[in-house]
Amino acid sequence: MTTEFEWIAAGDSVLAGGARLIELGFGRMPVRDAAGAFIGMLTLRDVVRVVTRGDDPARVSAGDVADSGISAVDVNESLEQALARLAAAGGGRLPVVEGPKLVGVISKAEVDTYRRALAEIGPDAERLVEDISPDDQMHELGLPSYLWTGVAALQPIRLALAAAGRDSVGNLLDFGSGHGRVLRALKAAFPDARLTACDLDPDAVDFCARTFGASPVYSNVDPARIRIDDRFDLIWSGSLFTHIDAPRWPGFLERLASLLAPGGVLVFTTAGRGVAAEMREGAGEHVFTPSGRSVAAEMREGEYRGLTADLARGLLQDFDRTGFGYRDYPGQTGYGHSRAAPSWVCGQVEGTSGIELLGYTERGWNGRQDTVACIRRE
Ligand SMILES: C[S@@+](CC[C@H](N)C(=O)[O-])C[C@H]1O[C@@H](n2cnc3c(N)ncnc32)[C@H](O)[C@@H]1O
Repeated sequence: MTTEFEWIAAGDSVLAGGARLIELGFGRMPVRDAAGAFIGMLTLRDVVRVVTRGDDPARVSAGDVADSGISAVDVNESLEQALARLAAAGGGRLPVVEGPKLVGVISKAEVDTYRRALAEIGPDAERLVEDISPDDQMHELGLPSYLWTGVAALQPIRLALAAAGRDSVGNLLDFGSGHGRVLRALKAAFPDARLTACDLDPDAVDFCARTFGASPVYSNVDPARIRIDDRFDLIWSGSLFTHIDAPRWPGFLERLASLLAPGGVLVFTTAGRGVAAEMREGAGEHVFTPSGRSVAAEMREGEYRGLTADLARGLLQDFDRTGFGYRDYPGQTGYGHSRAAPSWVCGQVEGTSGIELLGYTERGWNGRQDTVACIRRE
């Protein structure tokens, strides 16, 4: 289920609720009271009904007309029960309740995503740890999307290992692990591997150590100063290069290359032509950011994934001109958004000592970020 969702307050007018439905493009939305209890669902049909019976929708409360007969999913119900309720309701999203309280919404797509995640891991799926840190910034789009994005990293990783001719991984490093969105999938898929989690955020590293049994490494903004003695069969770095400027890439690549054991494989992700495309005029209507709004809506409102729309446009212009674009987040130095073309990224790998390019897949991670696989031959 998704625990971050849009709802309408019972005291809001039907007019305001209807406007919200139209703005978000939803057919129905849950209505809750001030104590957080689920009251019912407001649909556009409810709004029309109020108007056609001659009442003023600005003066009728959403809570008074919301359909309370709609079947809500109890948090403790099985996925099968939830699917049966969704089918009976004719699809869309259903509210999830814990006692009287509205705690989330669920859709068939979310259940399917969750099942796909378990199927991707295979027989070790029951090992997938589902404890998620409340401080995990990557969790904003809800559990199924979070789990699937983590598990989807296994596809480019397995591809890279196959290209390297490796059938086992003894120890692996998640560099820029965050709170373990991908590390949990790696732990399930490689149950015998020793895990190391390295991040700048000590809370994230501690969480990974506690939750997944990973060796903790507190990172440094200067990769040359990171203290790791181990050498790894596999290094995964997801969505880190997507946030750093061009002059810093060689330092990170050199350091990661130096941490590979002979025959070791590095897989890192970049924001390439696919991600850049969502920022273009007329695109991004159906790409949702952690804010819950579409990229196109953010760009129209003057903001894009934490950048101002002007900064985002400047980044895109540089990307189109040179194959690389970057802008700091406002108020931060050295951390922001980068967009890098495949040819530019491959040039960086070629310039790194000790590694060779194994493969480059556009949109290789969950259909969005590009994945780059490299090997250390000796
Ligand atoms: C967008 S998050 C991705 C987190 C995780 N890989 C995931 O996909 O959920 C980028 C992560 O890189 C970390 N990071 C930034 N600079 C770093 C550095 N110098 N060394 C290690 N991690 C760093 C950040 O703290 C953050 O957790």
